[in-house]
Amino acid sequence: MPQQTPASIRKITADDPLAKSADVVANNIAALKAMFPELVTEGANGTSVNIDVLKQLVGDRTVTDAEEKFGLNWHGKRRARQLALTPSTGTLRPCPEESVEWNTTQNLFIEGDNLEVLKLLQKSYAGRVKLIYIDPPYNQDADVIYEDDFRDSITNYKMLTGQVDSDGRKLQSANESSGRHHTNWLDMLLPRLRLAQTMLRRDGLLFVSIDDNEVATLRMVLSEIFGEENFEGHIHWRRRHNQPNDPTKMLGLVSEHILCFARDKATYKSAGVGKVPLTGSFSNPDNDPRGDWASKPWKVGSDQSGTRYAIVTPTGREHDEEWMGERTTFDEHLADNRIIFPDSGSGSPRKKYFKTEREKEGQCATNWWHHEQFGHNQAANAILESLLGEKNLFSNPKPLELLQNIISVSNTREEDIVMDFFAGSATTAHAVMAANADGGSRRFVMVQLPEPIDESTDKGRKSADYCRSIGRPTNISELSKERIRRASEVIMQSSQMFAGDLGFRVFKLDASNIREWEPARDDIAESLESHIVNLRTDRTEQDILCELLLKRGLDLCVPIEDKTIAGKKVHSIGAGSLIACLDKQITRADAESLALGIAAWHKEINPAGETAVIFRDDAFADDVVKTNVAAILDQHGLKNVRSL
Ligand SMILES: C[S@@+](CC[C@H](N)C(=O)[O-])C[C@H]1O[C@@H](n2cnc3c(N)ncnc32)[C@H](O)[C@@H]1O
Repeated sequence: MPQQTPASIRKITADDPLAKSADVVANNIAALKAMFPELVTEGANGTSVNIDVLKQLVGDRTVTDAEEKFGLNWHGKRRARQLALTPSTGTLRPCPEESVEWNTTQNLFIEGDNLEVLKLLQKSYAGRVKLIYIDPPYNQDADVIYEDDFRDSITNYKMLTGQVDSDGRKLQSANESSGRHHTNWLDMLLPRLRLAQTMLRRDGLLFVSIDDNEVATLRMVLSEIFGEENFEGHIHWRRRHNQPNDPTKMLGLVSEHILCFARDKATYKSAGVGKVPLTGSFSNPDNDPRGDWASKPWKVGSDQSGTRYAIVTPTGREHDEEWMGERTTFDEHLADNRIIFPDSGSGSPRKKYFKTEREKEGQCATNWWHHEQFGHNQAANAILESLLGEKNLFSNPKPLELLQNIISVSNTREEDIVMDFFAGSATTAHAVMAANADGGSRRFVMVQLPEPIDESTDKGRKSADYCRSIGRPTNISELSKERIRRASEVIMQSSQMFAGDLGFRVFKLDASNIREWEPARDDIAESLESHIVNLRTDRTEQDILCELLLKRGLDLCVPIEDKTIAGKKVHSIGAGSLIACLDKQITRADAESLALGIAAWHKEINPAGETAVIFRDDAFADDVVKTNVAAILDQHGLKNVRSL
């Protein structure tokens, strides 16, 4: 009989892929190797890419000359790029008490630094997001830029957001005098944009709001990341409805910019381009029973070609031109009273189009977004005031109409995911919930820093007082969550028939539940002893389950079912893709009934793919118990059994 390797339970350590967010570098190397194996070599100093081979592969005959390359370069760009590639050692901890409809919602609000959060979300959401809208700090003097520290990003985050005592490090202000005005901002934005690109579906789109300060720089960075060929458009949005009258300015600033890039333009186009609501004036001067209509020339435009033939008007005038359709089509339209002849019956024919027909389709957006249709700053402040009950609690929110139109032009529908990782007052979440009035189930993912509110100004004090009045800590993310709660109440009240998802699950960035190996150099024995318990002791079972979701690449909203087996709580996550028992004690007496019970439940669930079964490593009374459990599960086809 062939000898069988005894079943065993492998312990997950901090270096285990299950304990880390997606390793972007490893994935990149694997993709390059798969396509061009000769490009990547492994040496004593790690992996390297042969630039000359790369140039040959793409038919580039020039010699390597990085300095003369066209593009945007700045001191520190390499380090900024590297930041996107360093895996996160953090996790997202669930916060059901701050959530709405925790058990059923598919929406997420994540409190944390967006760079870490984007890394943590990679395994679960890469390639799944249809639309990302962001409104980052514009790099004006008053803007604070978050300083990344890739040696210990989680501690750095906690210091900057006042969650642990700080040694005085601060959020940087984008002050011109620092001499690194553009550089600090670019260092911050580049890694986040890189990760944003990987989040998008092939037919997905990114929209970024920006003002005159950095629009040129931003476009170059985005072209580099997305490829110039995926540039979708530059929208000019009039954000002020009134006329500025500043005697010191030649040009009064009334507009700002929204740059749009597709993940892959051809795929986006073939998935269907979105429209904006119909505008224009319609009337019914001839009492057409089909209702109000407008008209457009039947003659082709100057840059188009059509079919040439002569048309004689009711007054007998002949027009011999190139037309939009064949003669037979024209005759059909004429018979259906869809053709009119202006100028008392002698003008060039025009085709009628009816409001009722066009309303369903909407119309193509242009790159000029005026304030009447797309909203303006004052309207944005007004809606926030009406929701929160006080004026000016948040600086520079975007109008709801702007986001509703972005959702519309990007053709976001059904269960598409919409993400905003500079959420601010969460206008994007509000717009997604409102858009679902059409029966869709679009989902939102908001990320917002719990940025402490600066109480040195009247405005800051007012916002902080507001947070205190609702019994919450004084940071921006509390305002964001409150806005979503209030917006969902208003949507519910305004439409009793609304069946959409008005809840959201709150998660907060923190250090991983799995402890890192941090030996105390002067007492290695004590360190070894304390690391027998691999999990942080101040964490709940739900914390650990959510980290497992992230590390296994499951959606953070998948259902979790519980069952008591042999007196222990067992969880089935994502329809049996993961079964976890995190009980702290498994004795010899428990082993058989627990393992058999898990095997039976697994059979009942009958999951489509492989199931991983997870236990706490320190729960097993001894190695015999551990081996027995593994052996029984193995006999029932559960081969992937791990411990934390
Ligand atoms: C200009 S506001 C966004 C406004 C938003 N569009 C609205 O309609 O209210 C930018 C937001 O990004 C947040 N932010 C800045 N750096 C961040 C970071 N590293 N991670 C997450 N949020 C951040 C700021 O706290 C600020 O609230």
